[in-house]
Amino acid sequence: MLEDTSFAIHPGKEQQTAAVVYRDIGNMISNTKTDDTYLFNCENGKVAVQFYTDSIVRVIMNQKEDPQLDRSQTVVAKAGNVAVTENFSNDVYKLKTSKVELVISQTPFRLTVKDGHGKIIVSEGDRGMAYRENGEVVTFKEMHEADHFYGFGEKTGFLDKRGEKYEMWNSDVYAPHNPETDPLYESIPYFMTLRNGRAHGVFFDNTYRSAFDMKSSSEYYSFTAEGGQIDYYVMAGPEPKAVLEQYTHLTGRMPIPPKWAIGYHQSRYSYETEAEVRELAQNFVDRDIPVDVIHLDIHYMNGYRVFTFDKERFPNPKQLIKDLRKMGIRIVPIVDPGVKKDSEYTIYQEGVNQDQFCKYIEGETYFGEVWPGISAFPDFTDEKVRKWWGDKHTFYTGMGIEGIWNDMNEPAVFNETKTMDVEVMHRNDGNPTTHRELHNVYGFLMGQATYEGMKEQLNGKRPFLLTRAGYAGVQRYASVWTGDNRSFWEHLQMSLPMVMNLGLSGVPFTGPDVGGFAHDTNAELLVRWTQVGAFTPYFRNHSAIGTLYQEPWQFGEKYEHIMKKYIQMRYKWMPQLYSLFYQASKQGLSVMRPLLLEYPEDVKTYNMNDQFMIGDNVLMAPILAPSVVDRAVYLPQGDWVEYETGEVFEGEKTHLIHAELEDMPIFIKKGTAIMQGEWISNTDKAPKNVSMNVYAGEWNTTYRFTHYDDDGETFAYENGDFLEMELEVVSSPEQIEITVLNVKGEYKPAYNEINVNVIGLKKGQNVIINGEISRKNHKLALDM
Ligand code: GLC
Repeated sequence: MLEDTSFAIHPGKEQQTAAVVYRDIGNMISNTKTDDTYLFNCENGKVAVQFYTDSIVRVIMNQKEDPQLDRSQTVVAKAGNVAVTENFSNDVYKLKTSKVELVISQTPFRLTVKDGHGKIIVSEGDRGMAYRENGEVVTFKEMHEADHFYGFGEKTGFLDKRGEKYEMWNSDVYAPHNPETDPLYESIPYFMTLRNGRAHGVFFDNTYRSAFDMKSSSEYYSFTAEGGQIDYYVMAGPEPKAVLEQYTHLTGRMPIPPKWAIGYHQSRYSYETEAEVRELAQNFVDRDIPVDVIHLDIHYMNGYRVFTFDKERFPNPKQLIKDLRKMGIRIVPIVDPGVKKDSEYTIYQEGVNQDQFCKYIEGETYFGEVWPGISAFPDFTDEKVRKWWGDKHTFYTGMGIEGIWNDMNEPAVFNETKTMDVEVMHRNDGNPTTHRELHNVYGFLMGQATYEGMKEQLNGKRPFLLTRAGYAGVQRYASVWTGDNRSFWEHLQMSLPMVMNLGLSGVPFTGPDVGGFAHDTNAELLVRWTQVGAFTPYFRNHSAIGTLYQEPWQFGEKYEHIMKKYIQMRYKWMPQLYSLFYQASKQGLSVMRPLLLEYPEDVKTYNMNDQFMIGDNVLMAPILAPSVVDRAVYLPQGDWVEYETGEVFEGEKTHLIHAELEDMPIFIKKGTAIMQGEWISNTDKAPKNVSMNVYAGEWNTTYRFTHYDDDGETFAYENGDFLEMELEVVSSPEQIEITVLNVKGEYKPAYNEINVNVIGLKKGQNVIINGEISRKNHKLALDM
């Protein structure tokens, strides 16, 4: 193709494009208030304002009619019940809660949002909201010199998105995933701004193709969409963590995943036969490498027909699933949305007879080509279809399957546009509209259908769903893997900011294909990637058809040994990780965190791409390049202890750290604690012993954290069957005081006390447990 050669930059190719002309919203003419909604009539459109909490304000502009307040595909929170002080003088409206203030000037209509201290967080300056005759809407906001931008869901490139421009349009991108590759599979039209240590967020709830531009001007950033309304929420923070809580108040939080889903997953496109899967499972058991899940990619199906097994390759799936369960392993099969056009295939027959597929306005079914050939696509925008699709999963749950992998749900179609015709008319639960408007939520709604169906069928057990495509709020139903990366060191590097920004976008359970999907991996890359994978929230090794096999033993014993160590480490760290997943489900906080989330005042963290944190006190500094065994590590404020060597390092300094292939530097902050389990066996992964490792501080510090546990499998925790311990570690030069502040819940885990190891105790420092001096064998009881 000529476009792939230098012809692409042929001087004769450049065309003059006319400057885009927007029509400004104009002056305010009048205003009214109904219930909790403020409505402003302007010359060229109408603007509604609502408060969702005292920190969240929503602005909706519609150039044609009254703003539509109930069109969100994802927001779960409701407006109202917020104390707002109204003030009008000198042509300026002020609407103020205790934490946020909206200042509106009339001529022309312009908005400024201030935080609780009166500091401007979002302002329009001399450009505001506008639109074009073709339906495009845009809003400009002033950009400050100190602004750093994060979030935007699943994007390539570095952590800080200042100077970038991004599009939201769920796309199947097999290759390449370069810094300029955009968009990818997920659309999360949301970002967080960090300005001099204070943060706020903006969620642009518009499902059309949209774009965020922090590049074209140094004075303004803008967000724009091909259609629909300007409909955005400002979250006032002021800490980055508060922004995340506020954003997930709107779009929901992830339910606590089943413990097995947090374990190690092994996948390949594809393990093609039952015999191959059994051999694979046996290999893990024989080598004593823990694995919780084996994925079945598209070859398990009969001619890629979803809800079928190929009878020759997989003659007895039910038995296979049962036998693997005994080995402590679960099967997660792939389910794509495309249903093969085949009049002898029951799912297709049902889909046609019951009118479940996407259609054009004239009534013809939309067909597109995917793995099974010409296929029809369920219209997940319709409740009836979601129910039908969800119910179909009894096919899998009836065999003992508890997890599903949704792929190709952008939806991907093998054609020029890579997706469904934008003119297809979706039913949209009674408000029909085009695929142009709903493309970005197709995968999200497929996820909802799948998750809800599975949940109903699993008799109280938690379903697990992995998805490729999604929209803001996807965390309510699924974990997300970052699609078709490659076995390149650059892709290992890129995965860190990508997963961290997904976490800052409300999606805590994510990870890349460990080892790389396309291209051949190699021993060193796989080892380094497995080290990182052991601490990314979602941990799956997956590789593409035709590439080298990359199970942990494929490169010989030396490498297998190291990967085994790190996969086992994942299980050792499970109690710590599980409490973080619990925290994510409660507050929306991410599990894998960029340093800036914990140290927003420290500018050195603002674009820290090659280090990350697990929770608030553990810092990982992986090696991300070949043949490298030394790296610079920046440690923020405090003193830090290296996990394996016990060496202590001073914070607010950069250190040169040595790490042979078998090592990944992990630092724990002094004065804090982590929970550790122990690796037992492939079948029995629930730890019988849990230890609290306290890293003794020397100065006066107080650390509080929650240890959470439950059966890891069911929803019984919703009825009190959980253990929630609030713990405190107070360090001083004389003593380390460990106190159980609070214990809640009725769950009784397999361990009946917690061992306490105090690391780095100084001479003369006593250990005090629950108010009493403890001389040796420190322990904490699980009740008070
Ligand atoms: C897509 C997925 C990949 C999967 C393949 C075959 O490329 O992203 O993970 O293995 O399809 O189903």
